[in-house]
Amino acid sequence: AASDPDLVARARAAKEALGDRVFILGHHYQRDEVIEFADVTGDSFKLARDAAARPEAEYIVFCGVHFMAESADILTTDAQQVVLPDLAAGCSMADMATAEQVAECWDVLTDAGIADVTVPVSYMNSSADIKAFTGRHGGTICTSSNAKRALEWAFEQGQKVLFLPDQHLGRNTAVLEMGFSLDDCVLYNPHKPNGGLTAEQLRNAKMILWRGHCSVHGRFNLDSVNEVRERIPGVTVLVHPECKHEVVTAADMVGSTEYIIKALDAAEPGSKWAIGTELNLVRRLAKAHPDKEVVFLDRTVCFCSTMNRIDLPHLVWALESLVEGRVPNVITVDPETEKYAKAALDRMLALP
Ligand code: 13P
Ligand code: SF4
Repeated sequence: AASDPDLVARARAAKEALGDRVFILGHHYQRDEVIEFADVTGDSFKLARDAAARPEAEYIVFCGVHFMAESADILTTDAQQVVLPDLAAGCSMADMATAEQVAECWDVLTDAGIADVTVPVSYMNSSADIKAFTGRHGGTICTSSNAKRALEWAFEQGQKVLFLPDQHLGRNTAVLEMGFSLDDCVLYNPHKPNGGLTAEQLRNAKMILWRGHCSVHGRFNLDSVNEVRERIPGVTVLVHPECKHEVVTAADMVGSTEYIIKALDAAEPGSKWAIGTELNLVRRLAKAHPDKEVVFLDRTVCFCSTMNRIDLPHLVWALESLVEGRVPNVITVDPETEKYAKAALDRMLALP
């Protein structure tokens, strides 16, 4: 649906009034009505880098989810303030690993005698607390565009990796890109005593995967792939690595949102694509490539409901508040957490 012209005009006016004092970042899963006002768009890796590249902007308005805004706060200067237009824009995956659970897990690894040879690698999609845990124990952050490089680095530092919180990104990267077998991976369930694992299982494992997942990408399954191949002969199936292992294995290509966008840009006219990622992005790609057939991998609607919390009314409210001199919904990470989380993020940014 077209955006309310009054709101569009108000967003434009507020943005113009703020000028260089505001920098608006938009994740690829955001609504079109929000993306229209973003100064830059990107996947979570690109946005983390871009946030740090504008030290002169007083306000960073982050159109994405809470963990991204936290990372932006960590990577920007103390003088800059990061605004999340709706505080309810969280991430169910990030919520699947709490600081207490992860501390308990580390105790379990310590009791099994493997903590000193285990390196934590945490997906960007995690709270600042989890990033700080990662930094404190000599680990790195990764995103879906550099998970392989992060794991290679981690296996140079130690013998095992504790991968948090997305089991699928961890498993898919280890098995499909690094040559590990499924048997090299164990699943740590934070809701069970000792993660549901014996000390021997932990000692034998190379990859200890946290039992977290993305509720959006988790909806795709093998049937979605088989069905689309039947429906559209010659289709190329391109999916995000947050999808289940069976989906990624059955797909033709796998990559982060930024990778998906580049693949479509490079595709031949007339080519056919089924994309397994969030629906706002897939619809935008279909619109941007009228010379190609671009469909959503599954027939059921699959927005990320928390990404979608940021809509034009919330963006207008945030921008107009800034114009009036109020800074709403500021996301701040305490200095102690920030110090260690930044160490882990900086390690990621320094990966070759
Ligand atoms: P990327 O931005 O790394 O592709 O991750 C997708 C995602 O789920 C963000 O929440
Ligand atoms: Fe979290 Fe998945 Fe939504 Fe990304 S798409 S914000 S991982 S729930």
